[in-house]
Amino acid sequence: MIKITQNNRRLPIFFVGAALCFVILFSLHTYYPNIRLQEYQESMGFTHFYDESKAREWLELQNAFDVNISGSESISRGKPLAKEWRPYVEELFERLPSNFSSSHRNPCWYEDGTLRCLPYFYQLGSYKCGTTDLWDKVVQHPHVIRVAKEPHWWAWRRFGYTSLPIHRDLVLKIRNITGDRDDHSLQWYLNLYSYQATEAIRQNRKLVFGDASISNLWGLGDYVWEKKFPALEEPPFFLASVIRTFQPNAKITAILRDPVEKLWTTYMLGDRYKKMSFKKHFENLLKASAACEKKHSFKYCAFMYRNFPSSILSNHLYQGIYYVYLKEWVDAFGADNIHVITLEDWKNDTVSELNSVFQYLDLDPLPKETMASIVERSAKNVNKKAKSRNMVMSQQMRRRVKSFYRPWNEKLVELLGDQKFMWGY
Ligand SMILES: *[C@@H]1O[C@H](CO)[C@@H](O)[C@H](O)[C@H]1NC(C)=O
Ligand SMILES: *[C@@H]1O[C@H](CO)[C@@H](O)[C@H](O)[C@H]1NC(C)=O
Ligand SMILES: *[C@@H]1O[C@H](CO)[C@@H](O)[C@H](O)[C@H]1NC(C)=O
Ligand SMILES: *[C@@H]1O[C@H](CO)[C@@H](O)[C@H](O)[C@H]1NC(C)=O
Repeated sequence: MIKITQNNRRLPIFFVGAALCFVILFSLHTYYPNIRLQEYQESMGFTHFYDESKAREWLELQNAFDVNISGSESISRGKPLAKEWRPYVEELFERLPSNFSSSHRNPCWYEDGTLRCLPYFYQLGSYKCGTTDLWDKVVQHPHVIRVAKEPHWWAWRRFGYTSLPIHRDLVLKIRNITGDRDDHSLQWYLNLYSYQATEAIRQNRKLVFGDASISNLWGLGDYVWEKKFPALEEPPFFLASVIRTFQPNAKITAILRDPVEKLWTTYMLGDRYKKMSFKKHFENLLKASAACEKKHSFKYCAFMYRNFPSSILSNHLYQGIYYVYLKEWVDAFGADNIHVITLEDWKNDTVSELNSVFQYLDLDPLPKETMASIVERSAKNVNKKAKSRNMVMSQQMRRRVKSFYRPWNEKLVELLGDQKFMWGY
């Protein structure tokens, strides 16, 4: 993410993207129909889960198209994109080979004598969950090439998103090379890595590179699906199964944080905390979600709120419902093939968490001293601003926010088979 310097010297760094989303959401929330919270809570109850009848309809629809989004038997293997949706990612089928060169660790192939490569791993995450720090330390491994962290190609640029908050100069340079202003082409993405990494990979076959765009976590398979499939209530397919189709062996890592802390930290970004209590902020997010869920299904809202990078549609409440997004990745790749750590464990014992990531990525273990020197690097993108204020969440609010996220954390525990995703509550 991009970092900017503010005049206020005590609070030098923060995420522009996250802050913008907040400012926009702040100005937007007043436009939502004013649903009373009481009414919302009664109608939604404690659950906040998928509407059962909608879930059944969705399942029937999926079965009709021969896609099993919930078949637990198939979860451990993961599933590629169902045949029906393949015409909608035609360019990828045209350009990408069905098997890759066996002498490189990234999925690579030669195209008219030029080595082309896709990422070896995808690092998933969300705002304020430690993605930048994890990335910064993973790329210290001598076999991991430090490419630009967040190209946002799969989830955003592929569909015409051309804003330049991240890696501005690089994006412009690759546009120049590609001769394609809109960044949407696969050629742009391949050129991005040809420019940064493939020559090194050609010379040293131990090297790998990854893509840590946080937008990948909640990526859709097709942005304009509502126009293409007006009868559908929810996105018909997701980015996870698109990537799985072409890169069945892609490594998927993720870092998550207690969603209660995440919500608090995003509240403390910018100046919002001066203007509005955390209680009010939380209630506004609930209202906005309720307004969406009055018209649409829960899943629709969770994904559609997340998928417009520069638009009004951003709801930080959904972002902490990791289950709904990770479910797609688990369905596509299988829970056993995904390595998810928590920011809390990462902070408590960085060496052992980093080792677990290196091991999962099949990278050579590093000597103790090297690990120590990597871990000694200052943590990247820590929100000093929130820390420097003597504000804490009230016990009452903590209980409320916990009770919102608890059932989702329980689902996540079940999905990933690890109790750590209860975050102790
Ligand atoms: C989908 O799941 C159902 C129930 O688990 C199974 O009977 C069916 O064969 C599956 N379909 C495919 C295409 O895997
Ligand atoms: C892909 O597989 C086919 C058939 O198994 C083989 O002929 C071809 O050389 C492979 N291509 C690469 C790039 O490995
Ligand atoms: C793009 O190419 C044009 C013409 O070759 C050049 O003037 C310009 O500086 C280039 N821009 C970047 C960002 O490389
Ligand atoms: C922190 O890390 C230490 C050393 O790995 C471990 O023994 C301890 O249980 C961890 N504490 C928590 C709260 O996870």
